[in-house]
Amino acid sequence: MSKDKVEIFDTTLRDGEQVPGCKLDSASKLQIAERLDILGVDIIEAGFPISSPGDFQAVVNISEIVKNARVCGLTRAIEKDIDVAAKALQKAKRPRIHTGIGTSDSHIKYKFNTTQDKVLERAFYAVKHAKSYVEDVEFYAEDAGRTDNEFLARVCEAVIKAGATVLNIPDTTGYCLPEQYGAKIKYLIDNVKGIEKAIISCHCHNDLGLATANSIAGVINGARQIECTINGVGERAGNTSLEEVVMVLRQHSHLNLDTDINATLLNDTSRMVSESMAMPVQPNKAIVGANAFAHSSGIHQDGVIKKRETYEIIDPADVGVDQSSIILTARSGRAALAYRAKNLGFELEKKQLDKVYVEFLKVADVKKEVNDDDLPKIIEASNI
Ligand code: KIV
Ligand code: ZN
Repeated sequence: MSKDKVEIFDTTLRDGEQVPGCKLDSASKLQIAERLDILGVDIIEAGFPISSPGDFQAVVNISEIVKNARVCGLTRAIEKDIDVAAKALQKAKRPRIHTGIGTSDSHIKYKFNTTQDKVLERAFYAVKHAKSYVEDVEFYAEDAGRTDNEFLARVCEAVIKAGATVLNIPDTTGYCLPEQYGAKIKYLIDNVKGIEKAIISCHCHNDLGLATANSIAGVINGARQIECTINGVGERAGNTSLEEVVMVLRQHSHLNLDTDINATLLNDTSRMVSESMAMPVQPNKAIVGANAFAHSSGIHQDGVIKKRETYEIIDPADVGVDQSSIILTARSGRAALAYRAKNLGFELEKKQLDKVYVEFLKVADVKKEVNDDDLPKIIEASNI
């Protein structure tokens, strides 16, 4: 049975780049955009054109070079923003304008000091105006995660009437639980007239560490686009991590959902973004962290050496990692020691291994990690 496609909307260059200290120069932006295109993302959010001349130019440059993905520019629900975004996207083969406004009570009262009806009107006219430039218009209801579902449904209905092709339902503050976010998507599917004319998009922030879980709950309940960033970079605790949602869908094939991402490029892309942004990836980060396929306890190492699948659900090659690594520490056992010694050309018999293991533990107790340079010396010191 063919799988339903989930579109990947990458916002590394817009929401991701909002992180303090992660500003990218224009050459790096172009390099990342080219890589995202090769990776197979469906939409690249290239920037927020009205925010600065640099961002405007980045959207222009990216529009010129991207071959396959749609190129998208962010705006507020303000005519001038939309005019500027349309201009920046002029050279894009498949341009998308992403416009929107806050819809939660807190945004309406404190940010805009206005009423629900006025927000609804602004949303409608913003989409109409964007439609005068491009066919593909995505609408975001900022803080949808904390927006009353009934009002959110009214806004969605209005912007679909205005011609929105995609409805972005951001959990801007990362507040929702997966079941709440999933129920919100289902509510919209069940209650918005004309919903079949638009794709629902998940845009989840990670303030409670739930961005990936919420995005997956969204697509299980009928959304068909996920907005995410490489390494999960983004405001505060970050956005949904692209590599995580892609691999969740690959691992759980019973969901019958998949993306067009070439996962074997994930590890390399993660490094590229991390280096360009000078933003290290935490070692225990799922999929792309340095320890994601590293095993250091004796019990796990013994299992992985016998059969990789005992402690790994993903084949590292599937995400572009050469191989699992067996790290030698004081917690390692004989199986790991023999395995690493063999890789260096030392075939140890049982008695030899016992002797080398005694020497190994002496070193391992003082060093955090025993490496390939240490091993020959340990073997020599064992007098075997
Ligand atoms: O988190 C958010 O609500 C956003 C919107 C501007 C799409 O990034
Ligand atoms: Zn966001």
